Amino acid sequence: MAKIVGTLMSTHVPAIGPAIVNKKQDDPYWKPFFDGFNYVHDWIAKVQPDVAVIFYNDHGLNFWLDALPTFAIGCAKEYFTKDEGWGIPRFTDFDGYEDLSWHIVDTVKAADFDPVTCQEMYFDHALAVPMELTWPGVQRPIRIVPIEINTVLFPTPTAKRCFNLGRAVGQAIESFGTDEKVLVMGTGGLSHQLEGQRAGFINRKFDIEFVESLPTNPEWGTQFSPEQIVENTGTQGMEMINWLAARGTIQGDAKTMHVNYHIPISDTASCVMVMEPA
Ligand code: DHB
Ligand code: FE
Repeated sequence: MAKIVGTLMSTHVPAIGPAIVNKKQDDPYWKPFFDGFNYVHDWIAKVQPDVAVIFYNDHGLNFWLDALPTFAIGCAKEYFTKDEGWGIPRFTDFDGYEDLSWHIVDTVKAADFDPVTCQEMYFDHALAVPMELTWPGVQRPIRIVPIEINTVLFPTPTAKRCFNLGRAVGQAIESFGTDEKVLVMGTGGLSHQLEGQRAGFINRKFDIEFVESLPTNPEWGTQFSPEQIVENTGTQGMEMINWLAARGTIQGDAKTMHVNYHIPISDTASCVMVMEPA
């Protein structure tokens, strides 16, 4: 059976894309952030995943506000990034893993989740940036299954629902009949608000409590309603539900292998975190 080797959670701030392309990794502003990925590169080289399943949110590139799925699973053979403005670069295309996608769809439907299935999908910074941070400048040696979660248009799914979706996806991975190694990713966050009166809002205390809860008490994050998440983390801090979905795929306790929390990147409390099953 396929095996989850760990989870990798990462901020997906769009400005990271041009910083990569313009080789700003050692600039004083960027270094504390990019240095957080040295561990990730060594860890990926060690665990050598064959597949990545990625929980992320779309910001209007593939889905717009007129039709925004609560959950959507990519079931395509290949995926593409697109220019989303502001000079954000297009990264290399992605190989899909159709068989695993459909197995995940079948499994989560049996668990009473009803995702939209997508045979064509374009990715914005939310998926492209963490992938480029993890495998910089190379043809990625993995196939992917993208899982979109609505974090941008109310009503969003609850944190608890996303965590339980992760549980079902984890069961799907563990019942998939190959011996492949699967990395699960969750992108976005942590606290940030980009607009309105609270633009620039960051909540370090909440973020740290959330990060510390994930290995052995991930239910902590599931107690909050969407409104409470916005209150505590800012409007876009809602992206923490992608992290909870990813964490849910590891059924038991996890152990933290690495955390780099750094404020700010853009207006965001950035964080990269690696966990393995305990
Ligand atoms: C920004 C955009 C995002 O989607 C995000 O998650 C963080 C920051 C930005 O535009 O700076
Ligand atoms: Fe975002």
